[in-house]
Amino acid sequence: MTSDVTRPRKLRAVAIVGSLRTDSYNQLLLDNVIRLSPDELDIYQFPRFAEIPLFNEDQARLGPPEAVAELQAAVRAADAIVIATPEYNYGVPGVLKNALDWISMPPGNSGLEGKPIALMGASPSILGTARAQSQLRQSFVATDSHVVNSPEVFVTRAHTRFEDGVLTDSGSTKLIGRLLDNLVQLIRTVEPADVRLTEQVAAR
Ligand code: FNR
Repeated sequence: MTSDVTRPRKLRAVAIVGSLRTDSYNQLLLDNVIRLSPDELDIYQFPRFAEIPLFNEDQARLGPPEAVAELQAAVRAADAIVIATPEYNYGVPGVLKNALDWISMPPGNSGLEGKPIALMGASPSILGTARAQSQLRQSFVATDSHVVNSPEVFVTRAHTRFEDGVLTDSGSTKLIGRLLDNLVQLIRTVEPADVRLTEQVAAR
């Protein structure tokens, strides 16, 4: 005999890397994060990040360019966002802040509102993007997003942490595991266990 039951559906996070550099450590970091993600969470990277133009409020109100509309839709459809950011001049890279300003439109009704977000970053310095991530947290107050508070993932001395693309630092690997577990928990907290988080399955 079969009957319909519900089970937790797979969660989906859209990922953004705030670097356009070919050999980006943050891209390597995200590649490892995708590999380490728990079974219940699918993380996929937004593929057209390099095509996002400079933010223009007039254009945002008239109708955003195609790549921006795609990014906005991807964020709206996702259960969460995963961001791997570099730090430039003690701050958030312009390309990342620019994309977030586009996604934040329209203010008060954007895909960022209430969205769970996991932050991380890699840098050759000993602070590993702490200041850039702190600035991002402040911006996500403005967008009323829910950033996972802990653990914070700062991949310091990034030039020593990867071998053939694999993150070799076990401390960072453990922190990433905990960050993703906490992200899943946050998603389930902010999106109550209704039809959005479950799927019908045929059971014997
Ligand atoms: C940097 N870098 C840097 N690193 C850091 O930890 N704090 C900082 O304030 C800065 N500032 C900074 C400014 C500019 C203009 C550049 C080009 C670089 C170094 C930066 O972390 C390094 O280039 C990373 O490798 C960039 O990240 P990806 O591209 O490897 O992901």
